[in-house]
Amino acid sequence: EKGGYDHFMLKEIYEQPRSIRDCMRGRIYPNEGKVQLGGIKDYADKLKNIDRIIIVACGTSWHAGLVGEYLIEEYARIPVEVEYASEFRYRNPIISEKDIVIAISQSGETADTMAAIELAKERGATIFGICNVAGSSIPRISDAGVYTHAGPEIGVASTKAFTAQVTVLTLMAFFMAQQRGTIKESALVSLLTELDSIPDLVDKCLKADNHIIEIATALKDSSNCLFLGRGSGFPVALEGALKLKEISYIHAEGYPAAEMKHGPIALIDAEMPVIVIATRNSSYEKVISNIQEVKARKGIVIAIVTEGDKEVRKMADYVIEIPDANEAFLPLLATIPLQLLSYHIAVMRGCNVDQPRNLAKSVTVE
Ligand code: F6R
Repeated sequence: EKGGYDHFMLKEIYEQPRSIRDCMRGRIYPNEGKVQLGGIKDYADKLKNIDRIIIVACGTSWHAGLVGEYLIEEYARIPVEVEYASEFRYRNPIISEKDIVIAISQSGETADTMAAIELAKERGATIFGICNVAGSSIPRISDAGVYTHAGPEIGVASTKAFTAQVTVLTLMAFFMAQQRGTIKESALVSLLTELDSIPDLVDKCLKADNHIIEIATALKDSSNCLFLGRGSGFPVALEGALKLKEISYIHAEGYPAAEMKHGPIALIDAEMPVIVIATRNSSYEKVISNIQEVKARKGIVIAIVTEGDKEVRKMADYVIEIPDANEAFLPLLATIPLQLLSYHIAVMRGCNVDQPRNLAKSVTVE
């Protein structure tokens, strides 16, 4: 049932071109510049007038929420707050009927996320669920929602569910932008056309696998690892660090690249691998200077770069190329090599990648 792969995690990583495509099916109409989300269409009017959105989730789903914040603010111009469900529920949060709360959960059964929903509901908010498991608890207690359609995820470390969550949030951001008139139809035509090609670009990212195995060989004995990114690359860094720690048991931290100088830079020496999302986008020059700071302290730089990049290649110890794409879609591509890197490191360290110690697929107790 692993389809010829050694582990479910690897199978699920490789399924992503298909799972992302399934997630978009029937929902995007690139030629017409239109997004259709049946699950939330009844709220199209409400979306025109809301003042803010609160996203609640845990773990990897919370990282998807951070990508959602970036996309919804950028395109729909609605302020978004992303909350850990476990913190939100105990904070006497300020919520009203005017708010929309988006709960993100692969399993649809996470106790803290469910409790956060119940609380928000009591205070009158409208709840949208973004879940993978059909018929699970969260879709049942939500007012509306959008399924990710990634198919069953068996590996405990979330991979295809994450990229499907990000895909749904991308669709939601465009849907909201369309309702609110914050995006031109021509812009939507070109964004949706590009989004439609993302599964093929994800497939290209997977082609770097052999090169990633070489990098994994070099990193497998590290005790620490730093992941840096800016903008939508920041949640990718957090997700890369979480994947590495949960399956390989290497201590890893994700940071916004510019925060490095406010503390973590003290950790950098010749023993410290630093994985940097350094694709050619709006923060490219700034990330380059962050890389220089790491190299000046002899850190080992592994950079995720845009295909054909020359500048970063001169400085980095290792580069992994991903196809060029609009910044909006960077998380869907840059996440792939980081999943593969964690996977190979964990396998080389003899870890049980599908069932890491102390972890369960769904956390139904708080
Ligand atoms: C990490 C991972 C966990 C889950 C978290 C939330 O790979 O799988 O961090 O993302 O427990 O689970 P769901 O999405 O089912 O609510």
